[in-house]
Amino acid sequence: MAFSKPSFYTLVHPQVFLFFFINLGCLQASASVRETDELALLEFKQGISDPHGIFNSWNDSLHFCNWTGITCGRRHQRVISLVLEGQNLFGSISPHIGNLSFLRLINLQNNTFHGEIPQQVGKLFRLQEFLLGNNSLQGEIPLNLSRCSQLKMIYLQSNNLTGKIPAELGSLMKLEIIELRYNYLTGEIPRSLGNLSSLTIFSALNNNLEGSIPNEMGQLKSLKHVIVGGNRLSGIISPSLFNITSLSTLGVASNQLNGSLPDNICFTLPNLQTFAFGENYFSGPVPNSLSNASHLEAFDISDNNFVGQVPSNLEIYRPSVAPLEMNHLLKVSYKDLYQGTDGFSCSNLIGSGGFSSVYKGFLPQVQTPVAVKVLNLEQTGAIKSFMAECNSLGNIRHRNLVKLVTCCSSLDYKTNAFKALIFEYMGNGSLEKWLHPCAEGENQKRSLNLLQRLNIAIDVASALHYLHDLCGKPIIHCDLKPSNVLLDDEMVAHVSDFGLAKLFSINSNLSLSQISTTRINGTVGYVAPEYGMSGIASKEGDVYSYGILVLEMFSERRPTDEMFKEGINLHNFVKAALPKRLLQIVDPTLLPKEIANEECDDDATMEVTTNLRQCLVSMLEIGVACSMESPMERMNMADVMNKLHLIKKTFLNIQMEGD
Ligand SMILES: *[C@@H]1O[C@H](CO)[C@@H](O)[C@H](O)[C@H]1NC(C)=O
Ligand SMILES: *[C@@H]1O[C@H](CO)[C@@H](O)[C@H](O)[C@H]1NC(C)=O
Ligand SMILES: *[C@@H]1O[C@H](CO)[C@@H](O)[C@H](O)[C@H]1NC(C)=O
Ligand SMILES: *[C@@H]1O[C@H](CO)[C@@H](O)[C@H](O)[C@H]1NC(C)=O
Ligand SMILES: *[C@@H]1O[C@H](CO)[C@@H](O)[C@H](O)[C@H]1NC(C)=O
Ligand SMILES: *[C@@H]1O[C@H](CO)[C@@H](O)[C@H](O)[C@H]1NC(C)=O
Ligand SMILES: *[C@@H]1O[C@H](CO)[C@@H](O)[C@H](O)[C@H]1NC(C)=O
Ligand SMILES: *[C@@H]1O[C@H](CO)[C@@H](O)[C@H](O)[C@H]1NC(C)=O
Ligand SMILES: *[C@@H]1O[C@H](CO)[C@@H](O)[C@H](O)[C@H]1NC(C)=O
Ligand SMILES: *[C@@H]1O[C@H](CO)[C@@H](O)[C@H](O)[C@H]1NC(C)=O
Ligand SMILES: *[C@@H]1O[C@H](CO)[C@@H](O)[C@H](O)[C@H]1NC(C)=O
Ligand SMILES: *[C@@H]1O[C@H](CO)[C@@H](O)[C@H](O)[C@H]1NC(C)=O
Repeated sequence: MAFSKPSFYTLVHPQVFLFFFINLGCLQASASVRETDELALLEFKQGISDPHGIFNSWNDSLHFCNWTGITCGRRHQRVISLVLEGQNLFGSISPHIGNLSFLRLINLQNNTFHGEIPQQVGKLFRLQEFLLGNNSLQGEIPLNLSRCSQLKMIYLQSNNLTGKIPAELGSLMKLEIIELRYNYLTGEIPRSLGNLSSLTIFSALNNNLEGSIPNEMGQLKSLKHVIVGGNRLSGIISPSLFNITSLSTLGVASNQLNGSLPDNICFTLPNLQTFAFGENYFSGPVPNSLSNASHLEAFDISDNNFVGQVPSNLEIYRPSVAPLEMNHLLKVSYKDLYQGTDGFSCSNLIGSGGFSSVYKGFLPQVQTPVAVKVLNLEQTGAIKSFMAECNSLGNIRHRNLVKLVTCCSSLDYKTNAFKALIFEYMGNGSLEKWLHPCAEGENQKRSLNLLQRLNIAIDVASALHYLHDLCGKPIIHCDLKPSNVLLDDEMVAHVSDFGLAKLFSINSNLSLSQISTTRINGTVGYVAPEYGMSGIASKEGDVYSYGILVLEMFSERRPTDEMFKEGINLHNFVKAALPKRLLQIVDPTLLPKEIANEECDDDATMEVTTNLRQCLVSMLEIGVACSMESPMERMNMADVMNKLHLIKKTFLNIQMEGD
């Protein structure tokens, strides 16, 4: 009797009762709820065309928890994440997505979703990460998103969104990241964002925002990156914003901001790494304390109305960072240079190219040795090259760009025109010499290990990312190659030779970024294929050269190697071999000795530690992805940076565990 019905004890004992009750509830729920999720997913799939066939697994014979891109919670079998990143999906986002009420993560980045983001996402009250970047979404950011109170990350960058940033987002107290760059958003940055005490990244680069940067943002004590360049923001920057100790990037270039900078900026912003203030109406003195900003890696205050002197360790200041040669702090005469290089003697010659010869030298004004690049003015184009280099390097500074000490424009002893650029001297010479020591008649024993190469790849990517995306005016290098990457005493890489560089103004549509009318000659093997046809300089062109450089670094083969002819080039040679035939393409000095000496076969490949192998394959894949024939298919430098950091982290972690 007692078994057929619940006993009184069962009903009154709180724990037992609760158990009984919950169990019943669950059973009921799972039948209907399972259907809800499955139906919602099928509706979602309806609106999408799917060239890779990833929806093939979304069929009756598999439980929906096992469909590609779906993860369910283990206990309740409800969909908790929907991840279909970079799958070439084309279509709209179904409002039924709002029925997946257990969703915590949506990642549909790098597809071609169009139409509006449905208001029904507001029903996803467990949602934490909402990643829709790099699609073609239109319309406004849905107001109802502000009902997702658990949201930590909103990624909507590189879409076609219009309208305002909803002030209601200010109620999402858990928000850490708001990424809205490259859209068509208008209106003001809402003051309510000042409520988001956990916010670390606010990025709205390249929109049409106006009004001022709200004072309330100064209350955000966790902020690390504020990136609002390329808008129509005006007015002053509230002093409170210069008071956020954690701030590492302050990027406000290309706006209509004015006012002056607080003099104690480096004490209030001790962690500042990137300071991009170019192309605004800032005035007043350049803060002296900048010379004490120890973490500063990138600095640009060009095209403003600043007065006074730049701290002596930041030779980057050009009042609109006056004619060019006049305003570099360090004045160097022909005589200084002549004496400092023993009369431009052959023993001091460290390199020569079409437009110039480079000498090692010493100057009385500078403690460390310098590299003096003397332009060969008889060569057509040399003056242009001098201007290009002074203009691009004179206004910027970055840890991975060769530092311009000063420019000298004068007359030599025969009263001929004389122009020279003076750089910091790089003790370890060019990457070219390290990669191909025999060819250069160098000591054959020196060779770079994997970590050194990884670091150099990161250094160069970091410089290009800065030139392309973080300067006031984007700069296209146009001639990236191993001989233009110089290594300092600590083996940190610095990109040099800006003789062909092009400066561009930011305009709000940077999908295929602009343009020059002169032909780009570049260097055979490294110059992007489209330059030959269009002669148009672009970020994508630099990315191509970068890709080739990475392939060369890890395969030790030049793009101009004799074996590359008749349709075979370094890019498709590597691409065809990946990932299986790694040993046939990788630089053998990067492999453990016993493997490098073996015949290259698949068994040997297996022997290479998974970690090493994974790292090499990932690096070569980046080289391949950057050197795609079509400019549109290449990666951008921001993504390259992210990937490289991940590869390095993985490599180091596993290596440490292994030892
Ligand atoms: C999603 O929920 C709405 C509102 O409850 C309902 O009308 C709709 O039919 C649901 N969609 C699916 C696919 O079950
Ligand atoms: C369902 O998907 C699975 C996994 O992709 C596949 O093996 C199977 O053939 C599919 N079944 C049907 C009927 O399409
Ligand atoms: C998913 O597939 C695995 C392996 O085929 C199977 O063990 C599991 O039961 C499936 N999950 C569901 C929810 O059907
Ligand atoms: C998609 O884009 C993001 C950011 O732009 C990038 O980090 C990610 O690697 C890309 N993923 C794919 C699969 O293309
Ligand atoms: C956008 O997505 C495409 C397709 O996945 C990818 O190739 C491209 O690199 C992405 N671009 C950005 C800026 O993330
Ligand atoms: C949007 O939110 C409002 C309440 O703020 C609610 O009444 C409405 O139903 C929501 N719309 C959708 C489509 O979920
Ligand atoms: C995005 O917006 C631009 C400019 O408004 C327009 O030219 C382009 O066609 C739009 N793209 C899509 C997919 O809506
Ligand atoms: C957020 O900030 C705004 C304006 O700064 C304020 O009016 C509002 O009460 C704050 N709180 C919430 C939850 O939005
Ligand atoms: C900056 O912070 C200091 C110390 O917390 C405070 O005394 C000062 O008033 C703040 N200044 C501004 C402009 O917020
Ligand atoms: C800044 O510009 C605004 C107009 O946008 C003007 O009213 C204000 O006087 C300017 N302030 C300074 C300090 O230049
Ligand atoms: C830089 O820091 C040093 C030591 O803290 C200090 O003596 C000096 O005054 C600072 N310079 C400037 C310009 O603030
Ligand atoms: C590129 O090369 C062509 C001939 O090869 C030359 O006529 C032209 O001036 C060069 N252009 C530049 C910008 O150096």
